[in-house]
Amino acid sequence: MSTIILGIESSCDDTSAAVISDGLLLSNVIASQKVHEEFGGVVPELASRAHQQNIVPVVDTAIKRAGIDKSDLSAIAFTRGPGLLGSLLVGTSFAKGMSLGLRVPIVDVNHLHGHVLSHFIREKADDPVPQYPFLCLLISGGNSQIILVKSYDDMEILGQTIDDAAGEAFDKCAKIMGLPYPGGPHIDRLASKGDPAKFKFTKPHIGGLDYSFSGLKTAFLYTLRDAVKTDPGFIEKNLADLAASLQATIISILMDKLDKAVKMTDVKTVAIGGGVSANSGVRQAVADYCDRHNLKAFIPKRSFTTDNAAMVAIAGYYKYLSKEFCPYDAAPYARVTV
Ligand code: KG4
Repeated sequence: MSTIILGIESSCDDTSAAVISDGLLLSNVIASQKVHEEFGGVVPELASRAHQQNIVPVVDTAIKRAGIDKSDLSAIAFTRGPGLLGSLLVGTSFAKGMSLGLRVPIVDVNHLHGHVLSHFIREKADDPVPQYPFLCLLISGGNSQIILVKSYDDMEILGQTIDDAAGEAFDKCAKIMGLPYPGGPHIDRLASKGDPAKFKFTKPHIGGLDYSFSGLKTAFLYTLRDAVKTDPGFIEKNLADLAASLQATIISILMDKLDKAVKMTDVKTVAIGGGVSANSGVRQAVADYCDRHNLKAFIPKRSFTTDNAAMVAIAGYYKYLSKEFCPYDAAPYARVTV
């Protein structure tokens, strides 16, 4: 009999449900919330309400698209944290209710584990998956971590940001440039038309494998503020070059530490995950680096870089196989590392 897992993700502003059967993805449905755009960031209360509206149709659609009946489910996996508490509560409560109704266990998933394990989602039986141990560069709006992944539940953080995350650097600098939120994808698009060597921004000097991005944001702000004083049209005229130079600096900061981590650990496989791993420049830089160093690169499909329930379902699948079920009194958590 197949092991069929329903995954539910509601940690931030995407309501998502996915079905995985014996590790193979059958469906992955994501309802993004447009309601936050006019506020320039996610408004937690609006996010919870939108999850509440979306969760039933999203889960229903995921089950239908998977071509299964809900009675076929072996377990329900849900994101327990980290994330926005109100949003997490919607997914957590829904998962508990559905599991009680169907008499199947629930499995709680750490959202960050989900991002790392997204590389194990297979759409075809022969899709390659990473061999343990491997390094994962987890870069999103809230995290920048280099993780040594030893197994599905044994992950060691070798380095992480001491202030802003890589995604925050993209988003905050994009805001300074007057771009809409979230700015990362806009910078990516503009950067493809600009000169990455046009502007130089100093890189932080942080020891070990930790990252820092807040200094870059400040340097970027001061550069633009001074330039605008003498030329009010500076930003508009240099939009593509600014985006390309900013992106190149962020990539260089990320790659310097990744290189150090590879040398320290001697791993043979490098993966990336999280929203920023959708960035074309980051993807190319990691692929080129792995080529040069004879390493296997795992670059996720763009649909698996941002929040999605397929990664929750695959993480839940491995926990289910080890019979790591979640008690019904488990509450969501806002903060945690891997
Ligand atoms: O993993 P994620 O969806 O959730 C959070 O942790 O919030 O990551 C969102 C982040 C945002 O900062 C967004 O600007 C960034 O990922 N992002 C990108 C790109 N696509 C999303 N950053 C740079 N280039 C992209 N193409």
